[in-house]
Amino acid sequence: MTPGREPRAGVRIVAGPGAIEEAAAVLLGGGRVAIPTETVYGLAADATQGEAVAAVFAAKQRPRFNPLIHHVADVSMARRFAVMTPEAEALAERFWPGPLSIILAVRADAGLSPLARAGLDTIALRVPDHPMALDIIRRVGRPLAAPSANPSEHLSPVTAADVVAGLGDRVDLVVDGGRCRDGVESTIVALTGDGPVLLRPGATPREAIERVVGRFVERRPDGRVIAPGMMRRHYAPKAALRLDATDIRAGEVFLGFGPPPEGVEPALNLSERGDLREAASNLFFRLRELDEHANAIAVAPIPGTGLGEAIVDRLTRAATSPEKPEPEQTEQA
Ligand code: TXA
Ligand code: MG
Repeated sequence: MTPGREPRAGVRIVAGPGAIEEAAAVLLGGGRVAIPTETVYGLAADATQGEAVAAVFAAKQRPRFNPLIHHVADVSMARRFAVMTPEAEALAERFWPGPLSIILAVRADAGLSPLARAGLDTIALRVPDHPMALDIIRRVGRPLAAPSANPSEHLSPVTAADVVAGLGDRVDLVVDGGRCRDGVESTIVALTGDGPVLLRPGATPREAIERVVGRFVERRPDGRVIAPGMMRRHYAPKAALRLDATDIRAGEVFLGFGPPPEGVEPALNLSERGDLREAASNLFFRLRELDEHANAIAVAPIPGTGLGEAIVDRLTRAATSPEKPEPEQTEQA
């Protein structure tokens, strides 16, 4: 068990070599298994079993029109379920296994449950960079449909304890692979139109993708899928968030990045040395820690380039008050 929070009684948490076999058996039997990945924990189901996929939507209370990412073991498995374009091949070669989800035309006759992709003719695919996730996929021999293992609109889990705290016995098994390395979800790129489109900034920086495809990656919503994962408020802590804070106000605690402003004593720091990779990996973990005892969190300014694009995106969504009318949707997925 990752230290931090005590698990709720009744949920089976497994680790070590036997965990792979047990997880595969539960998945093949139509169960829901929380699995570690390099980004965040996923709530996995065998993507060929419609009922198992439906149970994942139910556990998260996720609307069924919001499609799931399909996790495969390697690029040859990806080719069986999607039409890989030359750009997809190049991105897969460079970034898989790793935190990049690619949206492609689905091979509709390949036996996957249409529910997992919310009935779309496209599919999100990625190869996770985590040995336990890869072993489980190989053992099952089928893609695993897995959204982040949190109740819809809550913070994504980066430890097995976070999964248990959020979903409890709505999971059949939790595989404990320790704390997630990247701590922020995969980048989502759609290759289904004329040019690559960034649907969600994430743990693979946009600039790295642009270097591989050799062109600008436009950022915009998919347009067809308007779903909670694409709405402005998501990844929400209970506490109020104030971004770009250079001071601290009554009732607030300060979440720092780099050296704190003069006179401000940060409660916690995303990265004392101002490192974006470290900050991304700490983001949900620190937000959860502060959320447990603070009502208002002031967050230091964070640069919006490289991995900072994903960090700023998650913070902006988390800071959007549900009471306020939704501003016009701009940055999504
Ligand atoms: O790092 C991650 O991506 C984690 C780990 C578990 O792999 N997964 C994750 O899944 O963040 P989830 O369900 O929380 O986010 C999936 C996003 C949603 O915003 C969904 O709308 C989008 O992927 N998506 C999936 N399939 C799509 C499709 N065919 N077209 C457009 N968007 C799609
Ligand atoms: Mg999610």
